[in-house]
Amino acid sequence: MKAACVILAAGLGKRMHSSVPKVLHRICGIPMLESVILSARKIRPEKIIIVAGSHIGLIKETISSGGLSYALQKEARGTGHAVQCARPHLKDFKGEIIVLNGDTPLVGPTALGMLLKLHRKDRNLISVLSFSAEDPANYGRILRSDSGQVISIIEDKDADEKQRLIKEVNSGVYVFSHRALSLLDGLTANRITGEYYLTDIVGAASRKGFKVSAYRIGSEMEFMGVNTREELARAADIMKKNIIKKWSDKGVTFIDSRSVFVHPEVSIGRDTVIYPNVCLEGPTAIGKGSTIYPNVRIHNSRIGSGTVIKDSTVIEDSVIKNKAAVGPFAHIRPGSEVGEEARIGNFVELKKTTVGRGSKASHLTYLGDAKIGKEVNIGAGTITCNYDGRKKHVTVIGDNVFVGSDSQLIAPVKIGKGAYIGAGSTITSDVPAEALALSRTRQKNLEGWAKRKLKHKGQK
Ligand code: UD1
Ligand code: CA
Repeated sequence: MKAACVILAAGLGKRMHSSVPKVLHRICGIPMLESVILSARKIRPEKIIIVAGSHIGLIKETISSGGLSYALQKEARGTGHAVQCARPHLKDFKGEIIVLNGDTPLVGPTALGMLLKLHRKDRNLISVLSFSAEDPANYGRILRSDSGQVISIIEDKDADEKQRLIKEVNSGVYVFSHRALSLLDGLTANRITGEYYLTDIVGAASRKGFKVSAYRIGSEMEFMGVNTREELARAADIMKKNIIKKWSDKGVTFIDSRSVFVHPEVSIGRDTVIYPNVCLEGPTAIGKGSTIYPNVRIHNSRIGSGTVIKDSTVIEDSVIKNKAAVGPFAHIRPGSEVGEEARIGNFVELKKTTVGRGSKASHLTYLGDAKIGKEVNIGAGTITCNYDGRKKHVTVIGDNVFVGSDSQLIAPVKIGKGAYIGAGSTITSDVPAEALALSRTRQKNLEGWAKRKLKHKGQK
């Protein structure tokens, strides 16, 4: 049978005290809503519908995953009303509808799959995923009859003292048969808040004799709702630990896991060693047997196997191939590629530059908009002058070129294969293959100059 997924993300999130919509607050680098979407995708629903409010434009802009449908809930009139807003997208849909809250960022696909399976096996109209909360305050409580049958869900605000003692709470994850959606038409506004609660259709279904079940298959670690910044920090802590554990279990060494940030969309190969204060931002892939030294930040990049990324290096939107070494204090800016066994050393900045296999730029260099061949040596202090104040221009350096220290290459310019640039040259026109280019003035030595100067002083 088919399944669709509805994610509720239109709430105001007042308790966050923020101008940013709650579901866009980030957890381990990604918006909470994105984290829920990633898990939902793993159970391969036919479609995913996001219910968003007045911030719908910002949400569409921020969420990077594609293939989503959006439903607008103009006013936040409650979770029941939010699902109503998604109904036009489900008009001819026959199957199960998985509903998720956008503020439960730790939800994983395994429990979702399990809930779907139980729903089908037990032929329910509605299935609710529940868990035991140490402190159930703020959650809806699951009310059961003496025989254990689910009667309804009562929200914290509406619960009496006895009901508040119930520890089994609603996670905000449900599976509805498409037939259950018509029950939404009968919802009435809550007496206290004026909102239409999705949770009320559980009671309505059970009163009408439909089969409703709650499965206590979750844990607070997986289904905690985030309503405040304090809860966000707590959830981030749990997610961070889960991610570190996942990669440790797969053979990655973290020298100090407490200081390392690994975003959910990062993969790390076995026997890679990660030193303290490293931030790996997704989507980033790191190969096997690499070493990432302290204070490194890598964003949306591919790092090969056997690489060494030395201290205090930043790598953004770039590729570092196998056995290359980068840093310390290097800045690899977007669109760059460092070839196999190449070396990029301290205080070297690359921008939109490819460096071929085995090439070296070891010190104090800026290489922008450059295509550098194999086995090239770039001397200390070399600068590609790529910008003329209006446009950017390209520098092409062939294989086996030797660029002497402190050279400026005024782009657009081509250096042919095997050519040499004398140290201190300013290169303004192309250099043929295997030539030596020199542009500095010839050295003049004035013999005895200092002595004559001293004598001159003495006469005064
Ligand atoms: C909700 C549940 C509660 C459950 C808890 C789990 C209801 C009435 N209560 O409470 O039983 O224990 O989640 O975390 O459903 N939203 C909309 N439109 C709205 C209101 C909310 O899209 O008009 C979205 C929010 O963006 C949020 C989700 O629905 O992602 C839940 O809303 P929230 O206000 O946080 O509900 P809770 O009070 O936490
Ligand atoms: Ca919530």
